[in-house]
Amino acid sequence: MRIIKAKDYAEMSRKAANIIAAQVIAKPDCVLGLATGGTPVGTYKSLIEDWYKVGDLSFAEVTTVNLDEYRGLPRTNDQSYWYFMHENLFNHVDVRPDAVHVPNGENPDAEAACAEYDAIIKAVGGVDLQLLGIGHDGHIGFNEPADHFPVGTHCVDLTEETIEANKRFFASRDDVPRQAYTMGVGTIMNARKVLLIASGADKAEIVKKSFFGPVTPEVPASILQMHPDFTLVADEAALSLI
Ligand code: F6R
Repeated sequence: MRIIKAKDYAEMSRKAANIIAAQVIAKPDCVLGLATGGTPVGTYKSLIEDWYKVGDLSFAEVTTVNLDEYRGLPRTNDQSYWYFMHENLFNHVDVRPDAVHVPNGENPDAEAACAEYDAIIKAVGGVDLQLLGIGHDGHIGFNEPADHFPVGTHCVDLTEETIEANKRFFASRDDVPRQAYTMGVGTIMNARKVLLIASGADKAEIVKKSFFGPVTPEVPASILQMHPDFTLVADEAALSLI
């Protein structure tokens, strides 16, 4: 495990973007695993502004697979992760539209939607670099605390805590979907490199628990301690308890 300390959110975002840019420069046809949420917004912005727009980076040969998607939200809904990724990254760079993949939240058949997504990840050859955020309960993707680490893509019931944390993006709490399709922990662990970003004092407790505590499915992110190429980029506030 490698820890890179940034002074604040802006620096964390730039440092994470630099690592992703380095990956794409070293392997232009790589597979990037991408995340949504508040934390990666600055990272995507830095990739666009500091790398793509100045002509130092192209996504023309890159393939992307996102971690997760709400079940039941159409892609046109502005809270779908499909929409988020287009708003925050894909619409601003030269990635090919047919090279971006997000679990199909519009497919009500959970088993089929998840099997289809695993087949896509397999067909593209697995993930070269997986970007992650971390939930306050240690979730990665939508893999919530459990008694085991799920392997492949699966349908999850969101916890009350996650619904609470995500309601800020919806008109009301009732509008937050109750289920999601998410990549499994096994798929995340199979990524050749994993990069987790964390910012803010509210993440300090879970960062400490995940990366300096026991490895347990009760804290899903803790398994990243076992990953052979795991980098944590966090700001001083998120690292304040370490
Ligand atoms: C997003 C995802 C989630 C978030 C996590 C942290 O695709 O899978 O695990 O990374 O909920 O969210 P933020 O960054 O909003 O604190």
